[in-house]
Amino acid sequence: MKFFVDTANLQDIKECQELGILDGVTTNPSLMAKVGITGKDGIFSHYKAICDIVDDNVSAEVIGTEYKDIIREGEELAEIDPKIVVKVPMIKDGIRAIKYFSDKGIRTNCTLIFSAGQAILAAKAGATYVSPFIGRLDDVGSDGMALIEQLVDIFANYGFHTEILAASVRHTMHLLQCAEVGADVVTCPANVIMGLLKHPLTDKGLATFLEDAKKLSL
Ligand code: G3P
Repeated sequence: MKFFVDTANLQDIKECQELGILDGVTTNPSLMAKVGITGKDGIFSHYKAICDIVDDNVSAEVIGTEYKDIIREGEELAEIDPKIVVKVPMIKDGIRAIKYFSDKGIRTNCTLIFSAGQAILAAKAGATYVSPFIGRLDDVGSDGMALIEQLVDIFANYGFHTEILAASVRHTMHLLQCAEVGADVVTCPANVIMGLLKHPLTDKGLATFLEDAKKLSL
């Protein structure tokens, strides 16, 4: 199972990378705006800074929604660094662009997936990753995790190479459920990853061990 951190915050990315368990980063325009990055040069430099921290898999999202704009932007983004994965929205021109990028060997992440049909289309177009947004489905009373389970079954039926990247993962239980049903990747904020470290019995047990260690005259 791959762990991506869903942020454009360089400190959070460094913290996860230093833990030694990070497989990549996902960003989107909202996350870039949150860290105050503006202008094309600033944004491209920021993507490069992220690529310099992690080993691979930095999703950088196109803004265009028409085929020719998506292609132009995606090719520019892919030139920043070989670690870039071009993030393309789940729209008609996006699917056409994913097919183009796939034929050219440019990796893609199809974002804003909310149904199995959308994910099948993206996989058939050759997306490297599909990003179903489980938290946002839960927000509107749909079962986000059920979509992940459905996709795991469908992709196994046909041996699709596209990886299921569970996105909009809001808490540790989401992450654990994704692991149970077999999502290939989860992307979530750094605090969700760090939340996996925590257990009160670990803290209590360590405090006891450290107290008893004082008796050992080390
Ligand atoms: O990876 C997509 C993610 O950034 C969306 O998360 O919490 O805004 O639904 P959220």
